[in-house]
Amino acid sequence: MAQIIDGKAVSAAVKAEVAEETARLREEKGLKVGLAVVIVGNNPASRVYVNNKKKACEAVGFQSYEYALEESTTQEQLLDLVNVLNRDSRVNGILVQLPLPGHIDEKAIINAISPDKDVDAFHPINVGRIMIGDYSFLPCTPAGVMRLIESTGTDITGKQCVVIGRSNIVGKPQAMLLLQKNGTVTICHSKTKNLKEICLGADILVVAIGRANFITGDMIKEGAVVIDVGMNRLDNGKLCGDVEFESAEKRASFITPVPGGVGPMTIAMLMKNTLTAAKQQAGLE
Ligand code: GUN
Repeated sequence: MAQIIDGKAVSAAVKAEVAEETARLREEKGLKVGLAVVIVGNNPASRVYVNNKKKACEAVGFQSYEYALEESTTQEQLLDLVNVLNRDSRVNGILVQLPLPGHIDEKAIINAISPDKDVDAFHPINVGRIMIGDYSFLPCTPAGVMRLIESTGTDITGKQCVVIGRSNIVGKPQAMLLLQKNGTVTICHSKTKNLKEICLGADILVVAIGRANFITGDMIKEGAVVIDVGMNRLDNGKLCGDVEFESAEKRASFITPVPGGVGPMTIAMLMKNTLTAAKQQAGLE
């Protein structure tokens, strides 16, 4: 039976580290840390995420600046706001909550965010830096996954790592981070053939495909570390991951639950990136 990886506890530890360093830098250097969070429209899930990000800022001692814009906001108006925030010295990090309404080109907005304030690490410059292993920010969810794997004491070097999902936000950067830690990495996706066979070879399996209970216990190698990035709502209103937990926990050595696994890590890593941004902008790092 697998040990459950407690994402809430690991996330609390990361936030505590950030809070401690924030308080110290404020005292010793007068450094203040600010995060701007921009939300456009009324997507209820986005609203919840943004509120959680604001709460996390307060908890670690950051100033948060929220910009809640109407659904009808034009791309030009949003670009204007991003440019104002790029120049605002109180703002160390800028997060534009995705998805944006259909009439706004997400790429144009991401490209407009100053790479130094891009705490999501979505800007092509930051994506490129991750590719060459010379980065200051890591995308929050994959960075959180790495921290969870680390918390199990697993050494990634030489391990067979299988990432299921190839999104720009999770799958692709996740594969890069595992590669940097000397994993042997395979990226699978919805069109992969022999998925079960590939999964059965995985010492570390990271699943981010966005399909409820997609990976079942019979696809998991005995003793594997299983990280479930999925967050799906079933018809009965219950949340579930991309991994069928009951059958998977019988085979894995460590497994993340949903909720309470990867989810809490994303915000903790956002706080860490924002502190890094503030330190860099103040010439402290
Ligand atoms: N929407 C869902 N996840 C994220 C995220 O990590 N960052 C942003 N900006 N939007 C999101």
